Amino acid sequence: MPKSTPGVERAARPAAKPAAPTGAPTQKLELEVNRTSYALDVDVRTSLLDALREHLHLTGTKKGCDHGQCGACTVLIEGRRINACLTLAVMHEGDQITTIEGLGAPEALHPMQAAFLARDALQCGYCTPGQICSAVGMLVEVAAGWPSHATPDVGTRPVELTDGEIRERMSGNLCRCCAYPNILAAIRDVASGPNGGRSP
Ligand code: FES
Ligand code: FES
Repeated sequence: MPKSTPGVERAARPAAKPAAPTGAPTQKLELEVNRTSYALDVDVRTSLLDALREHLHLTGTKKGCDHGQCGACTVLIEGRRINACLTLAVMHEGDQITTIEGLGAPEALHPMQAAFLARDALQCGYCTPGQICSAVGMLVEVAAGWPSHATPDVGTRPVELTDGEIRERMSGNLCRCCAYPNILAAIRDVASGPNGGRSP
């Protein structure tokens, strides 16, 4: 009888498959996205990003890393920016969610959308919805006096929005095409405009 080599016999056997999850809990919820109410019934583990893209087909919000590293999925919740890949849809019932589709319309662009176009602040455009939503939320934070890592004196009000401040505050939004100089210029244009670039 041939001797079996340790390891070979084990390798010949099919690996045991992990049990497929069955009966994953779902939850009915209503999401307010871009001033429209949507009724959903989702697996409770569904991220807000997947709910937007896969359930509501609002594909303007992009999935880059799905790990909170790139900012492509940035949306606004109650006016504050958030990575939609890092939060669950079921946590946002009753919240006002704004995506790039709801920020402006082709015939009435939000000032930040218009500035990105005017400054040619994109190449492939994949990061752009997240950059724009993030920039809009960032200007609200500046207006509220929130300091950043680049603020020389955290007690200073109002915060002076230098290029260094903008770069630091937008550092969570990566652009693989390196359109950073034009993104910076677009944000600077809006920040120096009426109302510091904040929506009325
Ligand atoms: S997809 Fe959410 S941070 Fe990259
Ligand atoms: S424009 Fe291509 S990733 Fe930013």
